[in-house]
Amino acid sequence: MKKILVTGGLGYIGSHTALSLIEKGYDPILLDNLSNSEQFIVDRLESLSKKKIKFYNSDLSDELALNQIFSDNEIDSVIHFAAFKAVGESVANPIKYFSNNINSLSSLIKVMNNNKCKKIIFSSSCTVYGEPKKIPVDEKAKIQKAHSPYGETKQICESMLEHSASAYDLKVISLRYFNPIGAHDSGVIGELPIGTPQNLIPFICQVAAGIRDKLLVWGKDYDTYDGTAIRDYIDINDLADAHVISLAKHDALEDNFNVFNLGSGSGTSVLEIIETFEKVNGVKVNYEYADRRLGDVEKIYCDPSKANRLLNWNTKRSLEESLKTAWRWQENLL
Ligand code: WQD
Repeated sequence: MKKILVTGGLGYIGSHTALSLIEKGYDPILLDNLSNSEQFIVDRLESLSKKKIKFYNSDLSDELALNQIFSDNEIDSVIHFAAFKAVGESVANPIKYFSNNINSLSSLIKVMNNNKCKKIIFSSSCTVYGEPKKIPVDEKAKIQKAHSPYGETKQICESMLEHSASAYDLKVISLRYFNPIGAHDSGVIGELPIGTPQNLIPFICQVAAGIRDKLLVWGKDYDTYDGTAIRDYIDINDLADAHVISLAKHDALEDNFNVFNLGSGSGTSVLEIIETFEKVNGVKVNYEYADRRLGDVEKIYCDPSKANRLLNWNTKRSLEESLKTAWRWQENLL
């Protein structure tokens, strides 16, 4: 059974991907520093998968510990999620983002090289595109100045990996996620923001649950059909599956550095999200308009045809399904 090191393995995307890996016969080894996740997720993953899961409470900056993990386990590939990922927070605290996101990957590449581990799947982001000139945006789009330090760290990390692919003969797949939403069908794992949720869906869930009194809609003056910003929302389970499919396709890809957009290919506004969430879950979401959030782009959604074609991967779940599982997960948290 191929051992896959999943950094950030207890996070939102990492935990869902760990389950998908087990379902497809891989042996995920989870590494997480618990800065934005909880250790009880390991127990939940073990009870869902009925498998013992190896977990290391470690930070990637501890290269000695990381080296030991590689020595103790014959790791076939790495899926690298561990990073800070909130656009708004990165504007307020850029150095937290630059030092963590870039140094973590730098340590990881060094230790992978020391241990002759040659394959990595990188958690990138649509934020590398900034405000794209043309939408839907495809992978050939010119990379412009990112709108946030978070997006800039993803651009820098992709560049580090592109150079490493040729210099160290690494095989890299960089997956540019659009907006991950929803939760596992079991309702046992989902997005677990610590403190005030930065992202739209967990915030909406907490307002609907009465934990927060209202949602602030950041911006009503965008050049969109209803004035609110547009994003490409993708179900977390479809996103997790894309990582497992990428692993299986890794050796077959001709290039050493490969980039894929992972999104639904359609755009949805903040207002539409609120209305759909209320409709499918039969709840009310109290909200009011506020100024735009620094770092936000106006509208972005992707052309997913390259991933559809080369990875034979498509989104399967609808927006409605994702908003239902997000709410079910929130209700289980109460
Ligand atoms: C979505 C929309 C906000 C909160 C995310 C991830 C990032 C990347 C891309 C993977 C925006 C609005 C939000 C609120 C609001 N994905 N909003 N009130 O910024 O698009 O980035 O997807 O790498 O990691 O963070 O997502 O959910 O923060 O915002 O009006 O309280 O909802 O302005 O228009 P974002 P988000």
